[in-house]
Amino acid sequence: MNLRNQHALITGGSSGIGKALAVLLAGRGAHISLMARNATRLEDAAAEVRGAKADRDQRILSFSADVSDRNQVEDTVRKIIRDQGVPDLLVTCAGMIHPGRFMELPPGVSERTMEVNYFGTLYTIRAALPSMVRRKRGRLVLISSGAGLIGIYGYTAYSPSKFALRGLAECLRGELRQYGIGVSIVYPPDTDTPQLSKENRIKPFETRLITGAARTRSPQMVARAILKGIRKRSFVITPGFEMTLLFRLHSILAPLAERYFDYRIALRSRG
Ligand SMILES: NC(=O)c1ccc[n+]([C@@H]2O[C@H](COP(=O)([O-])OP(=O)(O)OC[C@H]3O[C@@H](n4cnc5c(N)ncnc54)[C@H](OP(=O)(O)O)[C@@H]3O)[C@@H](O)[C@H]2O)c1
Repeated sequence: MNLRNQHALITGGSSGIGKALAVLLAGRGAHISLMARNATRLEDAAAEVRGAKADRDQRILSFSADVSDRNQVEDTVRKIIRDQGVPDLLVTCAGMIHPGRFMELPPGVSERTMEVNYFGTLYTIRAALPSMVRRKRGRLVLISSGAGLIGIYGYTAYSPSKFALRGLAECLRGELRQYGIGVSIVYPPDTDTPQLSKENRIKPFETRLITGAARTRSPQMVARAILKGIRKRSFVITPGFEMTLLFRLHSILAPLAERYFDYRIALRSRG
């Protein structure tokens, strides 16, 4: 896929993985629309992305909206299409996490996580898709997580929202082929972003024990893997060897991993 003069709309593009991908795409000549809530952070990110432009005429704009609010999403996507044109690439990266033991989570956390991670993705796709279908081209890139492949202690709010994205992507892939719209789903590993730092501050120690064994990647490495997957028109994008292994073997690995996680937690609790 040649990205020059293509328009990429990236939700969650003001930080972390979304911003790193925006920088890469700008370097390949794409026009970029960033969508997130905080206007100051969006403008700072847009300035950084402009710094990576491959040519002067590229348009890098930011749009403030909460993806969990369907009306806001519809209005904002309409504005984006008016100002920047129909997206060739729609990357739904906006997301949140609030780890904690199920019985200790504050009320509403699971609902909010599902609203942002799942419905935020669904609303954005629904708002942009009709115009993409009319043009009969484009690609949706949904950002799930390794925690969307395997449920982990402390992620009862997060994992289900990321599992749900897998279901959505698999159904859409089959339905959208006939309209020339490609679909990708990304399963990133732990990535060094503000979300991970925030999460690390409140993670139960059991979650820390389990996830601490995995390698943390840079947002730039994850963005490069996503770009490669987009270019190859891959349906599944697994940044790094561990995620590739987990994706391919998770039905076999899950019972072994669960036994290992339980063992580590029991050992630590006894000690
Ligand atoms: N970091 C990891 O270890 C990791 C691993 C696997 C998967 N992921 C997934 O990758 C995606 C990006 O994560 P990240 O680590 O790059 O996070 P990040 O640095 O915290 O960035 C999150 C982005 O989403 C936006 N956002 C959050 N809530 C939003 C809302 N309600 N409406 C609109 N925008 C919203 C944020 O901007 P505002 O707050 O200003 O809205 C920000 O631009 C997420 O879906 C995350 O679940 C991350």
